[in-house]
Amino acid sequence: MSKISVIGAGTMGNGIAQTFALHDFHVTLYDINKESLENARSTIHKNLNRMLAKELINELEIKNTTNNLIYSNKFDDLSSSDLVIEAITENYETKAIVFKKLESYCSDDCIFASNTSSISITKISENLSNKHRVIGMHFMNPVPIMKLVEVINGSHTSSEVTKKIIDFTKSINKIPLTANDYPGFISNRILLPMINEAIEALDSGVSDVKSIDGIMRLGMGHPMGPLQLADLIGLDVCKSILEIMHTGLNNEKYRPNKLLIDLVEKGNLGVKSGEGFYNYSNSKKAEVVSKRFSK
Ligand SMILES: NC(=O)c1ccc[n+]([C@@H]2O[C@H](COP(=O)([O-])OP(=O)(O)OC[C@H]3O[C@@H](n4cnc5c(N)ncnc54)[C@H](O)[C@@H]3O)[C@@H](O)[C@H]2O)c1
Repeated sequence: MSKISVIGAGTMGNGIAQTFALHDFHVTLYDINKESLENARSTIHKNLNRMLAKELINELEIKNTTNNLIYSNKFDDLSSSDLVIEAITENYETKAIVFKKLESYCSDDCIFASNTSSISITKISENLSNKHRVIGMHFMNPVPIMKLVEVINGSHTSSEVTKKIIDFTKSINKIPLTANDYPGFISNRILLPMINEAIEALDSGVSDVKSIDGIMRLGMGHPMGPLQLADLIGLDVCKSILEIMHTGLNNEKYRPNKLLIDLVEKGNLGVKSGEGFYNYSNSKKAEVVSKRFSK
């Protein structure tokens, strides 16, 4: 596989594209929204320069990575891909439309991977004529740093496709671990109830944002508190994942907390919108707790 396409240039798509480009793959990063593409370009530029400053990469690697990347809003540009990784909004209908359209643009050998956090891979493949090529490739945020890729086999995924994706994941210096096709897989089935419970604790006045996050960092050894992590993931994404698990697993414990729903309705989505449980207007560091959540 030499030509990779990434669909969706948001929080995850730009990290996935950067990682592949840094490992010498030709990458087309596609989005319907031109602003997302411009933001992705500038985020990748900043990330690469941060890595240079830390002496993790050199000038030549920056140049090659930059040359390996094409930013596009033309679907045609995806046609010669060997692997397409979809990283668009966490919504089944939106994803299904994109994959159906991809079928008429890509060759039969092209593998279709979804970075979905919770949607069934089997369901995503259901309306496609070649279901065997569809697989879940669930990268973690931030992609350039996190080692894990959760690999999810749908009921139709061929063993050949799984093997290729596992080998391929290793080739970009990531660690593939497999999970079966249940809503939320493993990572979000365990993580999201914790985030939801932290929001519930905040909402019922058990403690404030700084203390909840501090207790989980210092007491449990988590690198980041659950509310700060929710801001990083995107509160809209957290809400969608919980809704999918709530419906798919038919269990009340996954119902998104009301405060989470309110914040999403107000457009407070976390880091990407500038405010969630923390305020990010001056810097991307979550140091300023929004007054609303301080005691
Ligand atoms: N945010 C996380 O921490 C995280 C972690 C792992 C997996 N995921 C999953 O990755 C996927 C993307 O999440 P995100 O956080 O990057 O979302 P995001 O909201 O940051 O970005 C989504 C991007 O998709 C684009 N888009 C929407 N519809 C499109 C279409 N039809 N065609 C092309 N582009 C389209 C949007 O313009 C936007 O740029 C979701 O499935 C999510 O569940 C997210």
